[in-house]
Amino acid sequence: MSEKPHNADRTCWNCPAAKFKGNVDFRGCGQSRRIVPKGEDKQLMIECRRRPELGHFEPSITFEQCPEWIMGEHGYMLEDMRVMILGMDGYLGWTLALKLANQGFQVSGIDNYTRRDCVMEKGSHTLVPIPNMTRRLEAATEELGVTLNFRRMDLGNRKKLREFIEEVKPESIVHYAEIPCAPYSMVDAEHAIEVQRNNVLATLGLLHIMRDVVPMTSLLKLGTMGEYGSPLTGRPLFEGLFPNDAVLQWDDREWSMGGEMTPRDPASFYHVSKVQDTYNIYEACKYWWLRSYDIMQGIIYGVHTDEVATHPDLRTRLDYDEWFGTVVNRFVSQAIEGIPLTVYGEGEQIRGMIALEDAMECMVRLITSPPEPGQYDVVNQVSGLHKIKDVADTVARVGNEKFDLDVKIQRLENPRVEAEQHPMEVVSRKLPQEHGFEPNVPMDKEVERMFELLTQDHIKQRIKEKKHVIMPKTRWSGEKKESGVLEVYQPGEKEKGEYEGKLDTE
Ligand SMILES: NC(=O)c1ccc[n+]([C@@H]2O[C@H](COP(=O)([O-])OP(=O)(O)OC[C@H]3O[C@@H](n4cnc5c(N)ncnc54)[C@H](O)[C@@H]3O)[C@@H](O)[C@H]2O)c1
Repeated sequence: MSEKPHNADRTCWNCPAAKFKGNVDFRGCGQSRRIVPKGEDKQLMIECRRRPELGHFEPSITFEQCPEWIMGEHGYMLEDMRVMILGMDGYLGWTLALKLANQGFQVSGIDNYTRRDCVMEKGSHTLVPIPNMTRRLEAATEELGVTLNFRRMDLGNRKKLREFIEEVKPESIVHYAEIPCAPYSMVDAEHAIEVQRNNVLATLGLLHIMRDVVPMTSLLKLGTMGEYGSPLTGRPLFEGLFPNDAVLQWDDREWSMGGEMTPRDPASFYHVSKVQDTYNIYEACKYWWLRSYDIMQGIIYGVHTDEVATHPDLRTRLDYDEWFGTVVNRFVSQAIEGIPLTVYGEGEQIRGMIALEDAMECMVRLITSPPEPGQYDVVNQVSGLHKIKDVADTVARVGNEKFDLDVKIQRLENPRVEAEQHPMEVVSRKLPQEHGFEPNVPMDKEVERMFELLTQDHIKQRIKEKKHVIMPKTRWSGEKKESGVLEVYQPGEKEKGEYEGKLDTE
């Protein structure tokens, strides 16, 4: 292919090795649309932390021209780039750590094991067994020949976090370290408060540390598509900010909405914590010229990347309980246990989703294509839109055709407060157009890989052991009651319905 890598034309302006000197007019970058004035007294000069011999120069060397940026699997990568993963013991954090380390990144990370504790508190366990972190780190060295620099620590412990960041000086920080999952945040007041305390306050502390210690480092912060909800107006879910040409017409007046934050309509107290993060990060970029991708990630499904599949001790966790299990992962587990797949309400809800392997590729591409100083950029990370009842059909079809199961589907009273039929138009242009991402893993392929792993005897046994955590009992109303069954049906029995949602990638 003669096409240039996605980040070839990025320059020192994006590079974390650049030290800005002299008269930098930061109002001309990032969120402002003002052009940086040219002319001698306004000249932008930098020094390079990696190439001090260059002295002072204009930040115009492209990644393609710079010898520090070498060709990697997904475009140019800063040689030995230091990436810190917050939440490294989690479903995504562990998977990304192995992927990055395997590609030559210097990976460090922290975790306080809160996910393990929360799942245990609820009487569940990860379906795919995972060893403790000491063994995980050993296995990474034995099987992949990589060393991960891990510290057990709470993100909210600012003193320890600051020391670690000062020591490592990460060039990119990936922030996964939050308590995810809507139902867990809806259990009761204690859970709602803990989720918001943990997520919002620790992130606010992190932003202050970044300002003081590593302001050039990009922050890849995980938000969720659930921040937008599913607006009944049918308004497209732009990438966090209205596009430059967006115009509001009202009461005989008209004005530009370009660059303004789009409305959020979070779907649980967990999602509210993500919206609060969004505003805090947006402000930090504005006040201190930090740079961040706020990634509105769709629901992740799956078990596979090349690295986690190398050895049983390198596998990442997979949860199927009502609080932490995400929909596709839950459905596959239910299919194996012979429980009809639990579709809530009509099942017409449409959600953005993406396979684990594809999500990891997106992260590598974003890490290696940092935003500019002051830039707060939102990226919608989804590879497809799926109706929940269609997801159930896909899982049932793969289970029945390829694994000789007899999978049925059940509609349950919806424990959530949500529209069961709604318009859904998601704009996701940045990953494909600016960062060169093309999804590689269709849902049925990943679902098949999940069945292959989860039908192994020792894993089937683990589903059976904790079968009682599958049916939903946590209701948004506050009532504690198992959802009643509305209907049980065979896969393929339901009409498709005319409305499919729209994913706009062009
Ligand atoms: N998995 C999905 O489908 C999905 C979808 C959208 C967004 N996200 C977001 O992506 C991120 C990662 O998701 P995941 O599925 O890997 O979740 P996870 O719970 O498996 O991983 C998060 C990790 O962070 C750790 N952690 C939490 N709070 C911490 C703290 N205060 N200090 C240190 N460590 C802490 C946990 O122990 C856990 O290991 C989360 O922020 C989540 O909200 C996930």
